[in-house]
Amino acid sequence: MARPAVLITRRLPASVIARLEAACEVDLHDGAGAMPAGDLTARLAGKQALICLLTDRIDGAVLDAAPGLRIVANIAVGYDNVDCAAARARGVIVTNTPDVLTDATADLTWGLILNVTRRIAEGERLLRRGEWKGWALDFMLGTALGGKTLGIVGMGRIGRAVAARAGAFGMQVVYATVGPDPVATGPNGETFTRVGFDELLATSDVITLHVPLTPETTRLFDRRAILRMKRQAYLVNTSRGPVIDEEALAWALRERLLAGAALDVYEREPVVHPDLLGLENVVLAPHLGSAAIETRTAMADLAARNVIAVLGGAPPLTPVPA
Ligand code: DGY
Repeated sequence: MARPAVLITRRLPASVIARLEAACEVDLHDGAGAMPAGDLTARLAGKQALICLLTDRIDGAVLDAAPGLRIVANIAVGYDNVDCAAARARGVIVTNTPDVLTDATADLTWGLILNVTRRIAEGERLLRRGEWKGWALDFMLGTALGGKTLGIVGMGRIGRAVAARAGAFGMQVVYATVGPDPVATGPNGETFTRVGFDELLATSDVITLHVPLTPETTRLFDRRAILRMKRQAYLVNTSRGPVIDEEALAWALRERLLAGAALDVYEREPVVHPDLLGLENVVLAPHLGSAAIETRTAMADLAARNVIAVLGGAPPLTPVPA
């Protein structure tokens, strides 16, 4: 009997490829960048599985290219790049990679919080320009975190992991949710205070976003929301770019209606709104939330194990919620 075949849209660690090759035929896009959409459709024909990334748009037309497709294994916890309804309608299972990237993303979030509140990247730029004149009592003062309020929007796995780290910086946590109320305790049983969205906006000193991208969360941070934040507050986003209206954010930062922002994700990646690029009070990271060797390997490995399970007739390990 012919072995099932999987298309992989981007290079993966050798250990993961080896795991897949033991179970199925592997067709790997070995190019440096994302697979052109036309190639993806052409090479998916005849395959039973697809391993893709958040940069691949998987819609009904792509799925129709492979009538025998059984699983789309997305290497990301977010799956807004996959039309899950279209997949469901065609009997195709969609999986994501939760849990394995929670700590890495929470750590990066704290890196961004510290970076923007203590002006680390801004200071480095100044130093590299040769403009540092030496230590001074009032030089490049940032904001201390101790005693301040961290507002978390989206209290899923990553939101809870970010909350669990807040105590180390002496911050109080409040959170607001969009959609169903998830578990309100942290990974170590900590409890946090839930408030309404507008109250979170008005009372938080740092707001960090951990919601999936859905119609409800798209441009959740528009001018209205941003104007409800404290003028001394910071906005941090490691979720999905379109949760923030970048133009509104750039305007607020330019007008000093917010103290600062730190972004890891953008509305039109890899394009960053030009108005943000010239501002000193925003930290801009290139979507690094899960970018640790161990984490990315675990994400790819989980996607591979999902494929192997489904092709072998077993249930997927981490299907996306229905
Ligand atoms: C995810 O998994 O959704 C992240 O954005 C990848 O870093």
